[in-house]
Amino acid sequence: MTSRRDFIATASLAATGLALAPLAACSQNPADPPVREKPAGAIAGIVPLHGALLTRAIPATGEQVPVIGIGTSGSYEVPLASQEFAALKDVLKVFFDGGGSVIDTSPNYSNAEDVVGALLADGGWRDRCFLATKLAADSRTALESQWADSLRRLRRDHVELLQVHNLRNMAEAMPYARELKAQGKAKYIGITHYLERGHADTVRLMRSEKPDFVQINYSVNAPQAAKTVFPVAQELGIAVMVNRAFDDGKLFAAVRGKALPAWAGDVGVASWAQMFLRFVVSHPAVTVVIPATGKPDRQADNLGGGVGPLLDDARQAELVAMFA
Ligand SMILES: NC(=O)c1ccc[n+]([C@@H]2O[C@H](COP(=O)([O-])OP(=O)(O)OC[C@H]3O[C@@H](n4cnc5c(N)ncnc54)[C@H](OP(=O)(O)O)[C@@H]3O)[C@@H](O)[C@H]2O)c1
Repeated sequence: MTSRRDFIATASLAATGLALAPLAACSQNPADPPVREKPAGAIAGIVPLHGALLTRAIPATGEQVPVIGIGTSGSYEVPLASQEFAALKDVLKVFFDGGGSVIDTSPNYSNAEDVVGALLADGGWRDRCFLATKLAADSRTALESQWADSLRRLRRDHVELLQVHNLRNMAEAMPYARELKAQGKAKYIGITHYLERGHADTVRLMRSEKPDFVQINYSVNAPQAAKTVFPVAQELGIAVMVNRAFDDGKLFAAVRGKALPAWAGDVGVASWAQMFLRFVVSHPAVTVVIPATGKPDRQADNLGGGVGPLLDDARQAELVAMFA
């Protein structure tokens, strides 16, 4: 039975476009005591989440996706059958058990597509994954062979999201992406960039191309997208995928030895990683953020960034000022 507290929580989330993802082995009620027992198949040292992962709607369709996804640059560029690959199996188990589904990769990340394809097939998660990859080539012929390779390496006959990487060769890549969408090979199409100096071109192309998704950098120390890309995404109904929420890991060096704000516990934030991610998903334009890690305990930590109350404007501004 739904308690009044659960109902109020769900109703107020719905008002912000948020919902709660179904979550195995976790409590839906923030007042419940922490879950201590280790469920069957759990990974040593990983404590299950104490709440449900928030989800947001993709404006083009209304489809809900969990707000915490996974990036694969660097962390997934590892040899198959290595110790790092074995650790990634646990990373994905933590991720899917915790209610995650969105994974972002690219043919430009050396062998990351091979690694993702193998992990999803081995773990039986291929159909539970909202899989995003990219087009990044300079001619139609090269785009076609790159896409064929991507499908082979990902062990899929379609992807959920196909993005033009860093706005490269938009004149050929975007029409090709549209063709693939029309053929049912990609459910959504998008464009990506990762630097502030790319925001103006990104906004111009959002207006002219009207993609389903835009992927862009946004973090406590690089909050410019809130002024450039996000308002246009909200105006045009474009989903936002955020990259570099940790500034490629540099933010952790900036907070070494630094205490969390005194109010962190009030919003269920237990680490700086969770604070950086909660900051990102607190912006209403953001659909999903894709932090990258090759470590299962860090994956569990990152999922916690998407569980609990959002930060109000004053708290978001306080964080931006702290890292300015
Ligand atoms: N143009 C584009 O399309 C574009 C550009 C940039 C990024 N992206 C996408 O966005 C994703 C994310 O960006 P990113 O990989 O550049 O950077 P990021 O997610 O900001 O940072 C990744 C770094 O943070 C570390 N980390 C992750 N979780 C942590 C935690 N809980 N505690 C401490 N350290 C943690 C990782 O190290 P460990 O692995 O050692 O944990 C890694 O060094 C990429 O993987 C990619 O999928 C796309």
